[in-house]
Amino acid sequence: MLNAVLNEKRTVFEAFLEKYLKENNDSSGLFEACAYSLTAGGKRIRPVLAMLACEFLNEPLEKSLHAGLAIEMIHTFSLIHDDLPAIDNDDLRRGMLTCHKKFGEATAILAGDCLILLAFSVIGSSSYSTEIKNDITREIARSCGMQGLVQGEFLDVEAEGKEVDLEEIKRIHYLKTARLFELSMYAGARVARGGRERVAALKKYGMNLGLAFQAIDDILDVTSDGASLGKASQKDEKKGKATIVKVLGLDGARLWAEDLTNKAIQVVSGISGNREIKDILINLADEMKKRVK
Ligand code: FPP
Ligand code: MG
Repeated sequence: MLNAVLNEKRTVFEAFLEKYLKENNDSSGLFEACAYSLTAGGKRIRPVLAMLACEFLNEPLEKSLHAGLAIEMIHTFSLIHDDLPAIDNDDLRRGMLTCHKKFGEATAILAGDCLILLAFSVIGSSSYSTEIKNDITREIARSCGMQGLVQGEFLDVEAEGKEVDLEEIKRIHYLKTARLFELSMYAGARVARGGRERVAALKKYGMNLGLAFQAIDDILDVTSDGASLGKASQKDEKKGKATIVKVLGLDGARLWAEDLTNKAIQVVSGISGNREIKDILINLADEMKKRVK
């Protein structure tokens, strides 16, 4: 049931992305690299979250598509740059060659740069009101910059080989992963013109889900093999990465992830909104927890 609903939403997003790529293809090598990474089999969690937040507030999911695409572009940039030799030096992503392995390092750097800017142009050329455009543009910049994704990645790199405590790891996870989940929920709720209280609650759901997601990513790096992850596993320990498993141990990390998914469920249970979508948000958090059971 949950999977069917999520797949349905993913399909809507894929069609929107395909249309965007068709209409904007300038036949350059740079475009090709951006399109390659954008279509390299992601789960589309972030745009789907934006859709769910929008529908939770009883607006059609189509309203969230521009915001979801912009966020997926930012996410894709972050993966391209994260895989570069200077950062994580990975050859595979989602079972395919990473952007720099396929197109060379210079092109991968530039494709990442381009995707950030494309995200803003997608919002700018949408039919959102000026107010909504301003709000989403500002939040994208905030969630991705000095107090967001890029800072999180910086701290993650800095923490390699060092001892970290729970507060530090939580901050890194929040910045490098949960910020985009929070942003997705915010953007979906904002385009649906949600009021302050419900927007704040939906953001909180996104934050907890994002923190759980990164904890689970850390756990699976230890417990899974590369084939099922579509990327190298057992990498964190080799690189001396700061992970939740390093701080809490495997069982502790599992409990941590479980607690976060429970918090996500609790916050969304406590607000009014579309009943069917509320159940999907609850099931999504519940399923996430089961991934590491
Ligand atoms: C995989 O998401 C992504 C994460 C687990 C987040 C980790 C954060 C980074 C790699 C930040 C990098 C940032 C910069 C600025 C270089 P996913 O499983 O949703 O990926 P998918 O789209 O492949 O499914
Ligand atoms: Mg990486």
